[in-house]
Amino acid sequence: MKTIRGNFAFDKEANKEKIEEIKNFIEKNKDRKGPLMPVLQEAQNIFGYLPDEIMTLISNRLNIPLAEVYGVATFYSQFTFIPKGKTDIHICLGTACYVKGAADILNEFETRLGIKKGETTPDGKFSISETRCLGNCGAAPVVEINGEQVEHFTKKDVLKVLENNK
Ligand code: FES
Repeated sequence: MKTIRGNFAFDKEANKEKIEEIKNFIEKNKDRKGPLMPVLQEAQNIFGYLPDEIMTLISNRLNIPLAEVYGVATFYSQFTFIPKGKTDIHICLGTACYVKGAADILNEFETRLGIKKGETTPDGKFSISETRCLGNCGAAPVVEINGEQVEHFTKKDVLKVLENNK
């Protein structure tokens, strides 16, 4: 059975093992002091985001009201409620990259994909977000694509990345 969050479906069957993993983690941590944050962090590690179904599971198993679970998760920017795209793009907006035009690059991605930073395209192919300094300022501007840094990124490279990963 699939449930829908916006345009994104959460497939319980396909996520069976991951669901077991988070259940075990909750079981091991539920009696510690302040279990919610570590459980949310682990859920995000396992799924890459926090699906509604998992938020409900956390609420039930920790016996914490769902509104409170969402309240905590939305407070911290490290948590996301939308699955990452197959191609996950991080644009460095640290100072060195910024002065070399990183904001234009972000803008170009947003315009071409029709989404804003922090979002994923409805077909699940691309997600874009900004990141702080990636520690490679000499190669600014730097864009990270599925964990790999692309140095001296130009606006023209935007189209290449989209073409190569569509
Ligand atoms: S500011 Fe982008 S790598 Fe340092």
